[in-house]
Amino acid sequence: MNNKNFQIDNSGIDPQTNFSDNPEFQQVLASRRSFLKGSLGAAIATLMGTTLAGCDTDSADPVKLPEAQLPEPAPVLLGFTALAAARPDTILVPQGYTARAFLPMGTPLLGSYPAYKNGGQNTGAEMEQQVGAHHDGMHFFPLDARSTHQNSAEGLLVFNHEYLDPDLLHPNGATGLPRPADEVRKEVAVHGVTVAHIKKDASGEFQLVQGSPLNRRITGATPMELTGPVRGHAKVVTKYSQDGTRTRGTLNNCGNGFTPWGTYLTCEENWAGYFMNADATQPREHSRYGVGKTASRYYWETADNGADQYQRFNASSLAADASADYRNEPNTFGWIVEIDPFNPDSVPQKRTALGRFGHEGVIFGPVTEGQPVTVYSGDDSQFEYIYKYVSNAPYYKATAGGHLLNDGTLYVAKFNADGSGEWLALDINNAALQSAAAAAGVVFDSQADVLLNTRLAADLVGATKMDRPEWGAVHPATGEVYFTLTNNTRRTAAQVDPANPRANNATGHIIRWKESSSSVRSFNWDIFLLAGDVGTNTPGTNITLTADNHMASPDGLCFDANGLLWIQTDMSGSQQGEGPFGNNQMLVANPATKEIKRFLVGPMDAEITGLAFTPDGKTMFVNIQHPGDRSTPTNLTSHWPANDGTSHPRSATVIVTKDDGGLIGS
Ligand code: FEO
Ligand code: CA
Ligand code: CA
Repeated sequence: MNNKNFQIDNSGIDPQTNFSDNPEFQQVLASRRSFLKGSLGAAIATLMGTTLAGCDTDSADPVKLPEAQLPEPAPVLLGFTALAAARPDTILVPQGYTARAFLPMGTPLLGSYPAYKNGGQNTGAEMEQQVGAHHDGMHFFPLDARSTHQNSAEGLLVFNHEYLDPDLLHPNGATGLPRPADEVRKEVAVHGVTVAHIKKDASGEFQLVQGSPLNRRITGATPMELTGPVRGHAKVVTKYSQDGTRTRGTLNNCGNGFTPWGTYLTCEENWAGYFMNADATQPREHSRYGVGKTASRYYWETADNGADQYQRFNASSLAADASADYRNEPNTFGWIVEIDPFNPDSVPQKRTALGRFGHEGVIFGPVTEGQPVTVYSGDDSQFEYIYKYVSNAPYYKATAGGHLLNDGTLYVAKFNADGSGEWLALDINNAALQSAAAAAGVVFDSQADVLLNTRLAADLVGATKMDRPEWGAVHPATGEVYFTLTNNTRRTAAQVDPANPRANNATGHIIRWKESSSSVRSFNWDIFLLAGDVGTNTPGTNITLTADNHMASPDGLCFDANGLLWIQTDMSGSQQGEGPFGNNQMLVANPATKEIKRFLVGPMDAEITGLAFTPDGKTMFVNIQHPGDRSTPTNLTSHWPANDGTSHPRSATVIVTKDDGGLIGS
């Protein structure tokens, strides 16, 4: 970097912290202590049909859900030998399995199929026709997903591109301020989503279908629609969309989801860092989300003499004039975006009814004909929340579609100390929200305003501040919802609560809950797993981690069709570089037996994230993000997937198969 005043710092990719004065954890602790000593605890235990572990003590041990609800998967599962923790610069999978890199960053995908050039040599225009960077959430759509067939040989592999590393994307890193326009064009282009039409060849290996009209790149510049309650609100009016119905691009797409009607959902996570607002006082729609105060993370607003498509990243009043007013541009980000991968001309839809926050992923609850759809999403920042959306309209397979995501109620989770939980409605007509807002002097002009300020509304109703909610997963048979809480080293002993039971939680945990059968507003929860070093025990269970499964910073989470829970880790810094856990990895747990084994170990300085299966369960797709994360242009810490000792590392998908053609995880 040539400019001394210019420092791109990807640590901004790390989460913001919720410093709001929400006193819920002290209240929870106090109520837990008095509650658990009384007879009511025993009564609740009886109602739950089980003994609540920890109910007879004053400890913060988690309560446990009844285990009888979990069916035991077929006994052939988890038959492989667990991997040891390790730091290879390659992919390790168990004996009897094979892993192959697929669709790395820069793979020619569209148009003139420009070849990938090592060393950051591709132009912005070329990158718009290539697979993007920093692969993350992912889903495989069988090409016949909307028929009764389940095609495991051909489909659309759709995956997110979360962010970028300037030192690896350009020949000599970012070259100073103002940012050269083509560098920024390339950086915008590596974000978003790839839709890749893939098909097994004669030897049974998946290949990209070159020339398929279904191949598509969605980037940080792709035109999108705002849908749901926020559409048309004054706070999303920009020069680009003077009726507040459209915006350009999706950014920092981390986790993902997919709908029962065959569309892809991509989540905008740490989008706030892509914007700046230098005003002395930022509006709450910016400040509560961490919009930059002096510059954006990648300084895109400086490119091309303030051309419109880049000036929009500066949301300051000072930058606004009659011809270019982008003060509301950040308000068009922070949403879940629905993409129809089967229609390459479809306009992505930002679904504002699902709330605005640092969306990690999105997961549907079990879908029942004639019942509303339920959708979960976590806000991955320290002390942020877990949310649930319930549609107003019922689901019918014949008519299901995006309209179900435009009209419903958004709830936020409160985890009570007794193992019960409440979903608190972020509805402007909810009296509890109204009274809390009045007491705090907060005014919402509409439900759209509540949704624009989802975090603030959740603060007001007293939701439980969590240890960075990452991905969720729903058990295919029981409907229980599992959620990773990746870590939170800022939680103090005074802030510990039963759902987040460890101060300085460096290694994270996995919480789970089961919805009440009688009320959309209540659930029962427990802690499935405390992550940590060898010997870490999850109180109330027989899970004590060993060399086969010690782990830290669980992040990606997915159930397969057999009820196995796949856990991906995202350790960073010294936890990955020097800790006892080796490189980031993927483990698999059988919730019925509590057996957990390490299944995959990734290359140097990479994160393992994103997971998809073919319908037959015999091909697994896993994403490897930012191998060589600590590289500089002259000092590469990884050469994966080339493994040639010289090439730049590249994010890529990995295809995992079993050599005997069997089920993945068997
Ligand atoms: Fe992009 Fe929360 O991980
Ligand atoms: Ca993640
Ligand atoms: Ca993470």
